[in-house]
Amino acid sequence: VKVQTAAETSARTNMADQKKILCVGLVCLDIISVVEEYPEEDTDTRCVSQRWQRGGNASNSCTVLSLLGAPCAFMGSLAAGPVADFILEDFQKFGIDVSLVSEHAQCVSPSSVVISNIHTGSRTILHMNRDLPDVTAEDFSRIDLAQFKWIHWEGRNAGEQVKMIQQVEKFNAQLPDRQRIGISVEIEKTREPLYELFPCGDVVFVSKDVARHFGFDSPEAALKGLYPRVKKGAVLICAWAEKGADALGPDGLLLHSDAFPPETLVDTLGAGDTFNAGVLHTLSNGGSVQDALTFGCRIAGRKCGFHGYDGIR
Ligand code: FRU
Repeated sequence: VKVQTAAETSARTNMADQKKILCVGLVCLDIISVVEEYPEEDTDTRCVSQRWQRGGNASNSCTVLSLLGAPCAFMGSLAAGPVADFILEDFQKFGIDVSLVSEHAQCVSPSSVVISNIHTGSRTILHMNRDLPDVTAEDFSRIDLAQFKWIHWEGRNAGEQVKMIQQVEKFNAQLPDRQRIGISVEIEKTREPLYELFPCGDVVFVSKDVARHFGFDSPEAALKGLYPRVKKGAVLICAWAEKGADALGPDGLLLHSDAFPPETLVDTLGAGDTFNAGVLHTLSNGGSVQDALTFGCRIAGRKCGFHGYDGIR
């Protein structure tokens, strides 16, 4: 009887391991020019290098998750044409499941021009998204939730995203605790409608920008001030670049991890998305919030020491 129980437990663990992490949000093209010095307006200078990279917060987090060996899927919209082809091919290169990507052939692919300063690691982003619609709660209602152990939303069309999260909560309600899908949301942009997402996640990532927008000038102050907005039992996380990251949970204890800056800062593009992926990876494997913070800071720091994400592997 004992042996059987152990085998059952292990089968269950293996099944949970195979379940994927789903990230819902943006994918776009990043056209990155690496410069030695930030250019002056109306000048003509040479840069060190240029490259195309698949970008967008949710898409970047998927890249990092896949490099960490976590099965993951991306859900978002895509236009058609050479840019969309480049993006799809790149998703496939990383083994990221794109079966939930919806195509809008008549739309323009969103893209960012990024000026990346090789000496400071700073990234200046000019983002363009003309007409690509975000995925809706109706699109979401068609998916088989049983294949996921965690779903992360990059805050975008919050009204629809709240409805998607309600679908997952309904699905979770019929399951025992340990089989429930973890729910996280990222509130990165200072846009009023996104604040509707605060009470929605088991884990809520709030950016330094949003914290500052609310008048908080440290992660501790932001977490204490914004915690009343999250739902009962949730964990609120705030990463603050070189200051590392903090988290606050229902026990009221403030957790902290220092940053792990690389010897030389080379490229901070997507560092926040890398941090989120590290946290999701740890939590979805049953790790503690403290371990998640530390691992998130560690890989985000490491990422800043090279271009792109491949060096994470
Ligand atoms: C980095 C990023 C880029 C993208 C931009 C969109 O976090 O996702 O890849 O161009 O932000 O705001």
